[in-house]
Amino acid sequence: MVRIIPPTPSGLAEAARLLLAGIPVALPTETVYGLAAPALDEQACGQVFLLKGRPLTDPLIVHIAEPGDALALAEWNPLAERLAARFWPGPLTLVLPKKNIVPDAITAGRPSVALRCPAHPVFREVLRLAGQPLAAPSANPFMRLSPTCAAHVVEGLGPQGLVAVVDGGPCSVGVESTIVDVRDASRAVILRQGGVSREEIEAAAGVPVTVFQREIADLSEAADAPGLFARHYSPRTPLVLFSGEPPVSEHPQRPLAVIRWRSADARTDRTGVSNFAWTETGSPSEGARNLYHLLHQLDGQGFGLILAETPPGDGLGAALRDRLRRAAAQG
Ligand code: TXA
Ligand code: MG
Repeated sequence: MVRIIPPTPSGLAEAARLLLAGIPVALPTETVYGLAAPALDEQACGQVFLLKGRPLTDPLIVHIAEPGDALALAEWNPLAERLAARFWPGPLTLVLPKKNIVPDAITAGRPSVALRCPAHPVFREVLRLAGQPLAAPSANPFMRLSPTCAAHVVEGLGPQGLVAVVDGGPCSVGVESTIVDVRDASRAVILRQGGVSREEIEAAAGVPVTVFQREIADLSEAADAPGLFARHYSPRTPLVLFSGEPPVSEHPQRPLAVIRWRSADARTDRTGVSNFAWTETGSPSEGARNLYHLLHQLDGQGFGLILAETPPGDGLGAALRDRLRRAAAQG
């Protein structure tokens, strides 16, 4: 049984105690729930890899309470400073050359470390109480949908032996942080699109910004962006994306779930077809909050197939398209 810890002062103190005893605890962040362990405790981080079923070659993000805590862990530079000043605390992760204090097990042997200062008050308070950085990948089994509420965490990691989750309610952003490689201060490379849009990074970086495009299917190829497997974040139910009208007759699987971008476009008059929508309003931030939530919900309902409309637009819309393309990728 997973213990569900309320986000009260005594609950957070208990979470910090468990963490300091080397026991991983799932915590809410503004993006998705993370499975936390003290970042400098290799053994506790080993438990995180084990619980998630994550390959040891896929490094963990290290979370810090204050932006200034980055200086002890990584070689800082002016580009990192500009982006941190603009987006921390928040859904941005910076990849920088690591200092020796960061164990190789956390970075999967790489000379770089991924750092994030999260905005969620619960995560920040636990960081403060623990008094040290916390490594935290998303709190889902490897390759499955990320969790955006405590129930998702319990469902995914409960059977794997998770001890406790702090219930901070639903995540306000709903997709993972944007990961930017800033090792070279003369250019920024977006390794994973997420809660901070490319346009926002461009406005703050003051140097050229590119998006890492290579779709990586094989772990051994994953030199710079170890987590960018083509298939990732997947529901169990097969997922097919569409633009325009849903190609309902091309897909005989029933019952069929159709997800439109806006609820106003959802039709209700076809037999064997259930209709859903990513948003009421069409706003990308609403779509982000609902993305994993809706996929988790539909995944448990026995649909033969989910047909999902591709989210439009720039900014967060691009991050949503990226997630859905990975979720829909086969094998
Ligand atoms: O929003 C988030 O970032 C959430 C919350 C919990 O903070 N965390 C998260 O962690 O999404 P995870 O482990 O699911 O994804 C982190 C990604 C992985 O794809 C990993 O390969 C990549 O970050 N990563 C970690 N360290 C890296 C490094 N040194 N260089 C390049 N990529 C790195
Ligand atoms: Mg993840």
